[in-house]
Order: sequence, then C-alpha cells, then structure tokens
Amino acid sequence: MKFANNSVDEIFQLNEEFKHNSRKDKINGGIGIYLDEEGKPFVIPVVKKAISLMHFDNFNYLPLSGDPTFLKETCQIMLGKNLFLDKENLISKQGVMGGTNGLYIWSMFIKQLYKRPTIIIATPTWENHQRIFSHHKFKIISFNHLDKNGSFNIKALERQLKRHPESEVLFQAGSTHNPTGINPSKDQWDQIANLIQENKNKVLFDFAYMGLGNNIDQDSFAIRLFTKKKIPISVVLSFSKNMTLYQNRTGALFIFSKTKREKNAIDERLKYFFRIVNSNPSAFGELVVKVILESRELKTEWIKSLQQMVNSLKKRREFFAKYTAGQFDFVKQGEGLFSLLGLNQPQIKTLKIKYGIFLLSNSRLNFGGLSLASIPKVAEAILSLSQAFSDYPSSRYQV
Ligand code: LMR
Repeated sequence: MKFANNSVDEIFQLNEEFKHNSRKDKINGGIGIYLDEEGKPFVIPVVKKAISLMHFDNFNYLPLSGDPTFLKETCQIMLGKNLFLDKENLISKQGVMGGTNGLYIWSMFIKQLYKRPTIIIATPTWENHQRIFSHHKFKIISFNHLDKNGSFNIKALERQLKRHPESEVLFQAGSTHNPTGINPSKDQWDQIANLIQENKNKVLFDFAYMGLGNNIDQDSFAIRLFTKKKIPISVVLSFSKNMTLYQNRTGALFIFSKTKREKNAIDERLKYFFRIVNSNPSAFGELVVKVILESRELKTEWIKSLQQMVNSLKKRREFFAKYTAGQFDFVKQGEGLFSLLGLNQPQIKTLKIKYGIFLLSNSRLNFGGLSLASIPKVAEAILSLSQAFSDYPSSRYQV
C-alpha cells in the first residue's frame, strides 16, 4: 500500500514534542492556545459557571443543523441586532464541530457547485487552510499577505482578484491574522469590498478569534460591511479560542443568500453534507455557548473576560518589545495571539535545543502561550542568537 507523503500537521507535531520534552523551564510559543499570565491553562470563568448551571436529563440527538438558539444567538452577536433582524431569513445556519469542520463542509458544498473552484488565499496563512482546500481539489491562488512595509498588501490582493474574477476568496475575519497578527485597516476593508464587487468574487470569512482582536463589534467590522453591501459571503465561526472550548469542537457555518428560495436549498445541502461527515452535531459546546449568549448577565461576563484577554495579549506584546530592546517593536502593531518574528531555521532550532523555547518553523510566536515571567527569558534568548536578525526585517516578509 502506498500513501502520498503528506506532512503531518506541524502545529500538533510540535505540541507533542513539547509535551514529551523533560525540561522544567520549557516554553510553548507554538500552538495557538491562551494561557493565563502565570502560564497556566485557562478556562473562561463564565464558561465554567455555565457548565455548572447545565442539567443533562438526556443526550438525545440535536436537529441536523444544530441547536437553533445557539445558531441564532451566535449569528446575532456577530452581525449586531439590527443587521441580524434584517438578514436573518436569508442566512443558512449550520452548527459545526469547530472551524476545520466548518471549512470542510463549506468546501464540500462549493465542490458540488463547481468542478474545480478557484480560491484566493493570502500567504502565509494557517497551515490547515492549504490542506483542506487542496484536499478538495480547489485551485489555490496565493498573494503575499504583507507588503514590504509590513502592512496588509492590498495591491497584491487586487492583482489576483482582477486575474481571477468570480472566484472564491478566503479572508481571516477580525484583527487576529494567523500567523502575522497584521490585518487590513478599516479603509482597506472598504477598498477590498469595492474590489470584490467589481470583480464579482465571493468571500469566505474564517472567523476563528471573534472578540480576541479588539472587541466583538470591531472584529466583525468586515463581515458587517460586506453584508450591508450585499456581497455574497460565507462565515465559519469557531468558539475554540474565544470560549476556551478548544477540545469541545464548537462552531457555526453561515451562508448568506439573495433569496429565500436559495437559502432553503442551501439549508438542505448543508444538512446533507453534515450528515455524511458527522451524522449529528456535537451538543456539549453548542449548549454551553447557548447558555451564555441567552443570558444578558452571563454574556456581559463573557465579554468582560474577552476584554481582559485582549488587554493581556497587548501587555505581553509590550513586554516582549520592551525586553527585546526595540528590535521587535513591530509586535506592538500586531493584534491577537500571533506575530511572525522573522527568525531563520538555525535560530529557531537553537531556541528549542538550548533554551527550551518552542516556535513554529515560520517563526510564529504565540503571545497567548507566554507567561509574564517567561517574557524576559524568551527575549534574552532571542537577543543572544548568533547573527541575530542580520537579514531582519526583510525575512519577515518573505513568503
Ligand atoms: C493554531 O494555529 O495554533 C491554532 O489554530 C490551533 C490549531 O488548531 O491549529
């Protein structure tokens, strides 16, 4: 039997290596999880509270689309009340088992419409994006996410939109781009919306970090803008990070239609694909999110925690910039969990072997994985690297 030599996911491979490493002072800057400021695993307090309020009298199946209140509340918080009420009847809503499952089901749906769909994706991106879309035999078109000044590269995007009108385009919604931490500005989103309309592209938003960039309203800016402009969009929203539910695979897929008839047809297709892949939704996470979003009090508590997490990530970025003596000030411009440091392979290897600091091979650092106390140590280790940053900052933009 022969298998294609597909690489196993680097993020989880590195995570296993980290777990099995016997060093006491090891630091995991790899996988995207949020630890508290002492470096301990963190579950948002209101999530624990919601779980304690839940009573399970039966574990019967959910409807095929998922829990209706969970879906409604999720869609409403994403769009804001007015826009939601205006569009609700034109949005297909499917509960999914986390972001990856949502992207997978969406890909199956698109594949049924087009034999070889084209999708435009920024490089670099989250490594699973490439894998999911190539698995479904999409034609993947790339553009450089960053320009030479380290801002979102709208010119590169524009070139590809013009070359590939009517294609699908993947954007990461919110202001938490994985892996760069650099996002389009509001003005750029406006320009992007115009370009998308001119070239008749369709947009898929991967919304993996709602509320962890700035706040829910600001992070949903592009989705709301595109919805108001009647641009055809789909959204895959994950609750892994913003509800700290990681292992409880919880998310939603929304597809926006022009007519009620189209919406009804898409509803049926989504249920069909979901049934083939997962049979029935996983209820636990959906019910936790529902309990929180349904209650004004619990929702307020959740939003407060998100704000604390955002503030803490900003603080960690500032500490890192301070302790690296101005050499990595750009991390303060980044938002969300990640920045790309622009280190080379030998430097990344030295960090792991000599200092027990684990980073992905593209030199992505997860600030959410750093305790406050570990930051001076990480900074010192990076500053001690031989030939540190001789080719920096250009290497950060090489994709
Ligand atoms: C990451 O990018 O590290 C996270 O999104 C975790 C994952 O599933 O890859």
